[in-house]
Amino acid sequence: MESDLPIIIRPSRDDDVEPMLAIYRRHIRHGIEAGVEDTGTPQPDDLKDRRKNLRNRKLPHLVATRGGQIVGYAYVVLFRKRPAYRFTVKHSIYVHHEHLGRGIGRLLMQALIDACAAAGFRQMIGYIDAENGASLALHERFGFARVGLLPGVAYRYGKWSDSVMVQRSLGAGATQPIS
Ligand SMILES: CC(C)(COP(=O)(O)OP(=O)(O)OC[C@H]1O[C@@H](n2cnc3c(N)ncnc32)[C@H](O)[C@@H]1OP(=O)(O)O)[C@@H](O)C(=O)NCCC(=O)NCCS
Repeated sequence: MESDLPIIIRPSRDDDVEPMLAIYRRHIRHGIEAGVEDTGTPQPDDLKDRRKNLRNRKLPHLVATRGGQIVGYAYVVLFRKRPAYRFTVKHSIYVHHEHLGRGIGRLLMQALIDACAAAGFRQMIGYIDAENGASLALHERFGFARVGLLPGVAYRYGKWSDSVMVQRSLGAGATQPIS
């Protein structure tokens, strides 16, 4: 059975971009994450450039595969561009809609945390829609603390939504200076 196949987490490649975009578009159209329409969706070439750019700057960009199919992805960008923030990243994680609830998000999250810690980052930050119970639970499971509530920052389907800001330290976090 397909669901018996192992899930493999690995760094993304150029030819992963199309299936990653398909996962993203589906969540935009049907999910509570992201937007309501396609106008702001990145095009494959944009995503390829962004992926290369992240790789050059040693920012983890991972995919989950099962039986050769891309079933999820996770990556980080710098939290802010100014140099003082260079040890803090902001992450995103998406699982294919037909593969939800089978532990793929958990594997991606663990791999992303490990890769970010290994790369020397000290803090991870995420923004989650306040109604996104699955994502809130996933983050709680991995020790992210709720550090902020941003009321009414998203508008979709005729309704304002809040975002929850979550944060987790990596390695020594803020307990030690950078040597
Ligand atoms: C959030 C998301 C990545 C979770 O991925 P997943 O593969 O379905 O999650 P997993 O099966 O690995 O479950 C991991 C944990 O998430 C939580 N979880 C997952 N689905 C859940 C649900 N429907 N309701 C409540 N908690 C849920 C649980 O805590 C679970 O751990 P446990 O079962 O061991 O207790 C996935 O739902 C997704 O891609 N959602 C759409 C995009 C999105 O919202 N991304 C996050 C943006 S911040």
